[in-house]
Amino acid sequence: MFKIILAWLFGALILIQAIQISIPKPEKVTPDEEIKAPAEIMKMLKTSCYDCHSYETKMPWYGNIAPLSWEVKSHIKEGREWLNFQTWDRYDDEKKQKLYKGIAKTINFSMPMPMYLSLHKEAKLSREQRRQIKEWAESNIKEDY
Ligand code: HEC
Repeated sequence: MFKIILAWLFGALILIQAIQISIPKPEKVTPDEEIKAPAEIMKMLKTSCYDCHSYETKMPWYGNIAPLSWEVKSHIKEGREWLNFQTWDRYDDEKKQKLYKGIAKTINFSMPMPMYLSLHKEAKLSREQRRQIKEWAESNIKEDY
């Protein structure tokens, strides 16, 4: 009985591989469109945010295996739609201001996404690193927006 259940589960797992979320193909970007920030900030953004907020996604091994891939790919897709650090200069001032505020707001709680952090220890930011990112984001917020 156990073997039959296992065989069914395995079969189901194979079948669901046909259902995949597709992420739009990365557009061409030039280095001057990327966000400009002090080197130490850039380094943190690259290790902790770029997997979802740029085209430089390092796909983990489970990133192509359903059902996990549904979660992973939808985060990448949405993450890029909300904020892509590589296409930063395509945003108008209003959008940039919104995003700086969003970064200052989310950096202490929701970003990087907690589920992602549980699988990516290298992306974890210390309290001090979060403070630095927050300070940098706030330093870019203009009062008249
Ligand atoms: C695992 C993927 C992932 C990682 C890593 C990640 N994000 Fe996000 N981010 C998302 C998704 C998905 C959204 C879309 C909104 C949501 O689901 O909360 C988002 C939305 C945002 C927003 C807009 C939300 C708002 O309220 O303004 C900001 C700002 C943001 N992320 C900043 C960051 C920063 C900064 C980092 C790195 C420190 C980071 N994110 C890392 C997936 C990610």
